[in-house]
Parts: sequence; structure tokens; C-alpha cells
Amino acid sequence: MRIGVLTGGGDCPGLNAVIRAVVRKGIEVHGWEVVGFRNGWQGPIEGLTRPVGLGDVEDILTRGGTILGSSRTNPYKVEGGVDKIRAVLADKGVDALIAIGGEDTLGVAKRLTDDGIGVVGVPKTIDNDLGATDYTFGFDTAVHIATEAIDRLRTTAESHHRALVVEVMGRHAGWIALHSGLAGGANVILVPERKFSVDKVVEWVKSRFEKQYAPIIVVAEGAIPEGGGEVLHSGEKDAFGHVRLGGIGTWLAEEIAQRTGKESRAVVLGHVQRGGIPTAYDRVLATRFGLHAVDAVAEGDFGVMVALRGTDIVRVKLSEATAELKTVPLERYAEAEVFFG
Ligand code: F6P
Repeated sequence: MRIGVLTGGGDCPGLNAVIRAVVRKGIEVHGWEVVGFRNGWQGPIEGLTRPVGLGDVEDILTRGGTILGSSRTNPYKVEGGVDKIRAVLADKGVDALIAIGGEDTLGVAKRLTDDGIGVVGVPKTIDNDLGATDYTFGFDTAVHIATEAIDRLRTTAESHHRALVVEVMGRHAGWIALHSGLAGGANVILVPERKFSVDKVVEWVKSRFEKQYAPIIVVAEGAIPEGGGEVLHSGEKDAFGHVRLGGIGTWLAEEIAQRTGKESRAVVLGHVQRGGIPTAYDRVLATRFGLHAVDAVAEGDFGVMVALRGTDIVRVKLSEATAELKTVPLERYAEAEVFFG
């Protein structure tokens, strides 16, 4: 048997750990051949491959990014995209695919399965916003990086008696903001799920200054002020219809400075959150996902995604996993509000 593996969407730490696990178990346990498709769905559309033998996956467990490359290519937006994938898989003798990705990549995996191509999904995203799994790998690393940044920003904020606004990733889900904000002891956490009042933020900031502390405000890139809209970096949309967000942190820091008369600075963590080595937790989760994805292929169980439930890896239908985004429940956000101000 010959299987293909690909990584799509925004990269995240742990992708290489999945690839390694798929290759090791696929070859050593099942005696399969594994073909690596480059750059997400662009690979199977255009026949772009790279070898992923045992030697190719040595030393990649701890490496960030993906040795396969990634892209946000959508086969359903490419003319004849699905037929091209079918032809490439037939030409290369590939019987099944393991697709490692988030909502967009796995949404395509679901449609391809409906169109008769055997795909097993593996959930990745630093945003942790995929439904049907307790956690995605990459999230723990992103939270770790953001928390370390908050710890560092706190000492310089205290020295200069400034408000520090830390903008983290999260278009529609505020998981990174919530977890890093809680772990870093932020004074305000703002998430896309709950519109915020700038007046209230200013009140919390003032109260923090009155207690002789420098306020730290963690804001998700997709957070929205009451009466306003998302702050866009550009109006351009990708192949899955997403606009590029960015700028809420800078905007909020200026509002705070104007309304409090205190110095404010904004730090945008951006892609730093997606780069570098995965945490031990993400390495283990990614490895287990890879091993279980191979089991699903071996059993011919396509149209499923491997998922974490508690401490177990289970299989869920791709349709269930991609039905809706897993956003922060308002009661979870309310837990953090105790620490605001
Ligand atoms: O999908 C993960 C993510 O990191 C989002 O949090 C963020 O909005 C987006 O990707 C950024 O995408 P790009 O790599 O296109 O800048």
C-alpha cells in the first residue's frame, strides 16, 4: 500500500512530529510506502512530492514548521482541482491520504471523501478552534510563547509605568488570549467571542495604575469593540475567504493613552507564536495523532479525524469536526473576569 501525507493552512509546531509518526508506523509496522505531498492541497493538485522515507524523518521530531511546506490552496477554487487530485493519486499509485490541517484543510478533506477519495484528518492549529477535539497540537506551544512574552513585558511595563497591550492570534476564537492571559496574570483579556467596552477597559487600566501596577492587556486579533468592527490589516481574502486581521492592539493602546494620559505600548506577537520548537505536550499529542491516523488508514476508516477526548485518542467524522468552530464559551471567559482591573 502507498499513502500520501500533506500539511495545509497556517503551519504550527508539531507538524513534523505527526509526519514522523506516520512514516515510522506506516513503514515499520505496515510495510507501506509513504509519499509526501508539498504545500498543502497544491501538492496533490500539481503532483508536487518529496520523499519521506525513514531517513527523511530522522531528527524532525523537535523541529518547528513542516518539512512538506504548506499553503492555503483550496482545490474547490481551482478549475478541475478535484479531478487533478484524482489523476495525480492514480498516477503515483497512492491509495489514501492523511491530511494534517485546521478547519479549511479538513473541510476540503471532508468534501474529497464525499467525492470518493479516501482521506483521514489530523487536527492542527495554534488557535485550538477545531470542534470535536479537546485540543489541537500547536496550541500549547503558542500559549507557552505568549505567556513568556507577557512575563517579559510585565517587567519593562512596571519599570516605565506603562500600559502594555499584547496582541495575540485568534481570528474567531480567543483560546490563546484566554489561556496566556490567565497564565500571565493579565489585567484585561479581550476575545472575539465577547465584544468589549473601551470605557470599561480604560476603567480597569486606571484602577491598575492606582494600585501602582502597570496594566497588561491581552487582546486577540479578532476582538471587537462595542459599536465597531474587526480591525483589518488588509481587505484581501485568501482562498477560503478569510481576511487578514491585525491592528486592534495598536488601536487600543492609542485609545488607552489618550483616555488615561498614561504611556501605552502595543506588542503584536504575530507569527512568533507559530514558530520554533514544539513543547513536550505538543510533541506527544502530535505523535499520538499520527500513530492513530495510520490505524484509521489501515482499517480503511476514511472521512474521519483523529481527536483527543480526555486523554484518549478517538475517531470522529470529519463532518462533525468541521461543522462549527470551537469558540470560548462565555462562562469560561467569565472565570477570567475575576482578575480584571
Ligand atoms: O490559522 C492559524 C492562524 O495562525 C490564525 O490565528 C491567524 O489569524 C492566521 O493563521 C494568520 O495567517 P497567515 O499565516 O496567513 O498570516
